[in-house]
Amino acid sequence: MDREPAMESTDAFGRWYVESSYQQFVRGEGAPLYEGSALEDMGSVQLAEWERRGGKVAYTRMADQEIFSLQIVEIPPRGELRPEHHMYDAVMLVLSGQGATTVWQEGERPYTVEWHEGSLLAIPLNAWHQEFNNSGTEPCRYVMGTNMAHMINHFHNIDFIFNNPFVFADRYSANMADFYTDRPRHWNLRLFETNFIPDVREFGVDAWREKGFRTGIARLSMASTSLGLHILDIGEGTYATAHRHDAGAHVVQVGGEGYELLYFEGEAEPRRAPLRPYGVIAPKRHEFHQHFNTGKGPIRQVAFKDHPPRYGYGTPYNPLGAAQTVDPGGIGFTITYDQEDPRIRDEYYRELERNGVELRLPPVSQKGS
Ligand SMILES: [Fe+2]
Repeated sequence: MDREPAMESTDAFGRWYVESSYQQFVRGEGAPLYEGSALEDMGSVQLAEWERRGGKVAYTRMADQEIFSLQIVEIPPRGELRPEHHMYDAVMLVLSGQGATTVWQEGERPYTVEWHEGSLLAIPLNAWHQEFNNSGTEPCRYVMGTNMAHMINHFHNIDFIFNNPFVFADRYSANMADFYTDRPRHWNLRLFETNFIPDVREFGVDAWREKGFRTGIARLSMASTSLGLHILDIGEGTYATAHRHDAGAHVVQVGGEGYELLYFEGEAEPRRAPLRPYGVIAPKRHEFHQHFNTGKGPIRQVAFKDHPPRYGYGTPYNPLGAAQTVDPGGIGFTITYDQEDPRIRDEYYRELERNGVELRLPPVSQKGS
């Protein structure tokens, strides 16, 4: 009879069963790694000196997943970062200050895009890019929505990620003259394509009644990335219906004030996080989440997530998106207003009263009452 091979030693196993390549990478960057379902203000979280590129940096590993993550960066006054290129997608949202990004493919002339608070800019896959702070007195801070965690873990070879010579000329080249200046294309209801939005707080969105009263959305395809993106508006005096899905979506608050309720099925009390610029919510797998506007004027959010509208999942486009009500056991389940716990709306109305917001939602007839 064959003998079972002897079990490897605990020490050997400890060396073989490594932490994720993404976590190793972040440690190598000497950077903090933020976790959980919410960060209250990315504008003030602690960053570390960034030896690789200059400036300061932090990373996230939110919602217990390593597919989508954020890279938070600060550049000192008159500072610049060293150029880089990488085999992961990155879309930049500027949180404060003003500066510029220069983009180029190897051997081609560079193109420079100037940005300021509220700008949304897509970096083409594996193209060179370099960031500059144009102010002599104020630091600037931005956040990159990325799939770097997924790509680093998939290949677990940092050299392949940051030193790959392949040029995606189909995505970007210097002869694509209007790449960053073209008007956004409106491909379908709630679906747009553009590579640069000078101020995401001013972008026009399409109404999305199925998701909530006075709610609107613009889903975005940017630079042919594999990131799904959207801009979501929740009007004054309203809130979005609750839903849940797989982990990975990062919702960044860019305007307005309110709160988020987060809860798992059967939990007695929801957890509550404030919504104000520039916080981020990243719900965990199957964690219900619901955005409430308690201020004057709309709430606006920018989401980095899965499901890119272009080069998508092989399914037809459905403008309803996450507002679909499906099997309660299924992913993407939405709790419509008439099915939700009445205490949710009671609490919301008390908040509005405190803030002097008069608007009210049409009444709902609660099922079974
Ligand atoms: Fe969601």
